[in-house]
Amino acid sequence: MNGVIGRCIGETSPTNVSFVSKEMPRVGEYVSLEYDGKKVLGMIESLVRGSVSINDDIYDPQTIEKIREIEGDDHYVKGSVKILGDIKDLKIPRTPAPPGTQVKVADPEILKKIFHVENSGLKLGNLITQEEVEVEVDINKMVTRHLAVLAMTGAGKSNTVSVIVDGLLKVNGSVLIFDMHSEYVNTKFEQGGVNVIAPEINPLYLSFAEIKKLSNIPANAYIQERYFRKAYKAAQRTLMKGSHGKDFLDLIENQLESWIMEAEADSSETKVNASDKKSITDVLNKLQHMRDKYGNILSLEAKDIVENIQIGKANIIDLGSVDEFASDVVVSHVLRNVLKSRKQFLRSGEGIGFPIFLILEEAHILAPQNRSTESKLWISRIAREGRKFAVGLCLVSQSPKSLDSDALSQANNMIILRLVEPTDQNHVQRASESLSDDLIAQLPSLNIGEAIVLGLMTRIPTLVKIDEFKGKVSGGDLNIVEEWSKSAENEEKRLKDEKSEYESLGGDY
Ligand SMILES: Nc1ncnc2c1ncn2[C@@H]1O[C@H](COP(=O)(O)OP(=O)(O)OP(=O)(O)O)[C@@H](O)[C@H]1O
Ligand SMILES: [Mg+2]
Repeated sequence: MNGVIGRCIGETSPTNVSFVSKEMPRVGEYVSLEYDGKKVLGMIESLVRGSVSINDDIYDPQTIEKIREIEGDDHYVKGSVKILGDIKDLKIPRTPAPPGTQVKVADPEILKKIFHVENSGLKLGNLITQEEVEVEVDINKMVTRHLAVLAMTGAGKSNTVSVIVDGLLKVNGSVLIFDMHSEYVNTKFEQGGVNVIAPEINPLYLSFAEIKKLSNIPANAYIQERYFRKAYKAAQRTLMKGSHGKDFLDLIENQLESWIMEAEADSSETKVNASDKKSITDVLNKLQHMRDKYGNILSLEAKDIVENIQIGKANIIDLGSVDEFASDVVVSHVLRNVLKSRKQFLRSGEGIGFPIFLILEEAHILAPQNRSTESKLWISRIAREGRKFAVGLCLVSQSPKSLDSDALSQANNMIILRLVEPTDQNHVQRASESLSDDLIAQLPSLNIGEAIVLGLMTRIPTLVKIDEFKGKVSGGDLNIVEEWSKSAENEEKRLKDEKSEYESLGGDY
């Protein structure tokens, strides 16, 4: 049949045609149409199957049986094709295809050319419908115009991220992963390798907003904030004067303590109001509580995290053992400093001297839709300004509806794997103009690892089977039954050993 699927019927338009066919093509398959001296590429968006003789007006199953006996399975397939553009430049043609035009399977050689990116391509996988065609995305556009990787849990987000990181490392890329579940630290990338960075901040580098947040000073506690800020500034000044070896937090505490003593003295010379004593004591208690609670992320020896970022490496900040609240502080701190450092580099040549791609797993926790967090502020900021300073953002989330719509709408590239919940789908669709209803309709039927890829990094939206990343150490579903039976066996063995040990000691079990 020389690749002919069917022929156009009814009224056609430059962007859409309907066709009938005897064979069953696949939704998402690429087709080509030749008319008016041009060749146009399209994608099958929907398919229905029908029969002329067995129609909606027959209500007797026996009649249907008889028709089937006479006619056999004489079905037709009807579908609609979204026109993607002329094969040469992917521009939408000015004229619609005449009814009767042949709809052919698109030539894989043409598709290979369309999905190949010269010099700056990263291979994600292959077309779902035409497996021989490899799909590459444009690294430059992906990094500068940000990316969102969205899907329900277990659909293949982390696998996709690993494929991307591996691809970036092949071109000496620099990636910084905020690893919320310690799942990337043991990953084996083909090139470049992993640079694990401890999630430690030197309190000296904390901004006042960050230290205030960590200490849990309420937003409306103005008196507490005033004293805390004064003590923070005084401690900074002391350190700047070169009092090395002094603990920054100690200095703040000492200052607060001396004010408490002044308030207690309440003489006419003191500058501290006696009635403020309670507030100052509150700040001191909170600061001490913070030191107890977050001792693990505060370290006086810690270098500035930004200085640890290496070129050509998957730099990984392991946040697996850090709680949500502290993660927010670490993430916002790093984001703020990365952006600052890139700005500084472009101005004065000092700072991070290379473009960087920041990957945030659990992005809906760091940048939630209805709550404000420190990280959200910086995520939005990088989403808006990052392009100018070559700081790219990759937001990964299994709950897109809880992800800040502002940050999401700045992601000009998306990889959406299986996504079933309509509220999630609607939220994503509102953030992306190129996600059509027909593409949305595909989302629930995708298998693990299958994705819709769209945005500036690809010339046309497409359905891709993402490569399986081989260097992953963890992340797969556990075999629960096996785990239980293993544990039960171990327990049985332990009891047996205990018993024989007891018996060997002459005991009576
Ligand atoms: N493209 C793929 N090809 C083959 N297998 C895949 C692919 N993507 C994912 N898988 C399988 O599915 C499992 C889950 O994938 P992954 O950990 O990437 O999901 P996830 O969306 O990140 O899940 P979570 O929401 O729990 O983080 C993987 O262990 C892997 O075995
Ligand atoms: Mg994951």
